[in-house]
Amino acid sequence: MTQSDQARPTNGEHTESHQGEQPQQGGREAPEAPDVRKGLVGVVVDTTKVSAVDPVSSSLLYRGYPVQELAERCSMEQVAHLLWHGELPDTDELAALEATERENRALQPHVRAAVDALPTTAHPMDVVRTAVSVMGAHEPPDDVTYQAQLADASLRLFARLPAVIAYDQRRRRGQDVVEPRDDLGYAANFLHMTFGDLPDDVVLDAFRVSLILYAEHSFNASTFTARVITSTLADLHSAVVGAIGALKGPLHGGANEAVMATFEEVGDASRAEAWLDEALASKRKIMGFGHRVYKHGDSRVPTMKAALDRLVEHTDRADLGELYDALEAAMTARKGILPNLDYPSGPAYHLMGFDTATFTPLFVASRVVGWTAHVAEQRAANALIRPLSAYTGPAERHLR
Ligand code: COA
Repeated sequence: MTQSDQARPTNGEHTESHQGEQPQQGGREAPEAPDVRKGLVGVVVDTTKVSAVDPVSSSLLYRGYPVQELAERCSMEQVAHLLWHGELPDTDELAALEATERENRALQPHVRAAVDALPTTAHPMDVVRTAVSVMGAHEPPDDVTYQAQLADASLRLFARLPAVIAYDQRRRRGQDVVEPRDDLGYAANFLHMTFGDLPDDVVLDAFRVSLILYAEHSFNASTFTARVITSTLADLHSAVVGAIGALKGPLHGGANEAVMATFEEVGDASRAEAWLDEALASKRKIMGFGHRVYKHGDSRVPTMKAALDRLVEHTDRADLGELYDALEAAMTARKGILPNLDYPSGPAYHLMGFDTATFTPLFVASRVVGWTAHVAEQRAANALIRPLSAYTGPAERHLR
């Protein structure tokens, strides 16, 4: 199948035709009736070697490896190396990556000052977005032609985000910063900086799994945002700031937070069906269900659900597990729409002890790896991303 074949819309509902209103570009004739692919549904905009999402088999491959295998056997640091460099690290490569990651974990004073200047009522996504902007302002000028500099900056950014997210949650609770420990891996240190103590194995494993599952997902809205910004030859931090903005919305990353709000609203399993009927009758979107690409189930859900099940047992919260199952069963029966990764990860983060508003920043900490891998790929074969639009406003008119 050619790319233009693939680019044909898969869902007629998202396709509109407009006569003769498309602007001409570069002297080329505008088509008679341009297809408008609302939401870019079914449009293939570029190639990528970073990951592959197969909606038919519900599979997700990072650089060729099934994400489930990586979640079972790898550390987040190994997966980061794989996504950035195309291969899993050997012993020396992993040691080098870990050393740099550990050296860059501490909350930088200028970032702390910026966070402290924000009210504790600010959404944590606003805090992390601001922090990345401040980090960018303190970076040396970004030479967009120099990929090695980009790789270093990506690793430093990955290393620095946990301190911001952990500190922001702590300051909301009236707690002070916890210094990083360089004898811990990335996931364990992240939990240590957030909660001030060492996580037990069940929590640590569920957290590690969630980070790996969230790390990359092809041309999702935030990654595409990062690629659009990169295509103008803007710097890495600008691309990541934009990506964070896109991720914040509840139709994208904000859904993991919204799932917990749903659980709180429903209350318990016995109310799930009645609550859902009412919500669907009032045309509400049920957060944590549905996906633009997967229509037969999200490849990542079974792995995250298994981690959630272990957390439910470990924390003796069968009630939460029952609510999860009841809402899923009701949604499947009513609409046939299946959960996405945010559905199990929301309650999992809750059981790990994170505040609900911190969930989407955790997604940022992980997805920054995917975003920066895509920034590198975009830079390596750049074309300015600038689509056309079909004009539907007033015909030409003149001031009187
Ligand atoms: N709750 C209720 N109905 C849903 C739904 C949901 N979560 N997801 C999809 N639908 C319905 C739509 O209302 C629409 O029904 P209609 O044809 O009767 O109008 C149909 O399914 C197609 O949905 P659509 O919104 O066109 O699909 P999409 O590919 O544009 O949207 C999402 C994908 C993710 C935006 C959508 O499923 C959604 O809003 N989910 C909730 C938010 C979420 O969990 N986001 C995280 C994604 S990883």
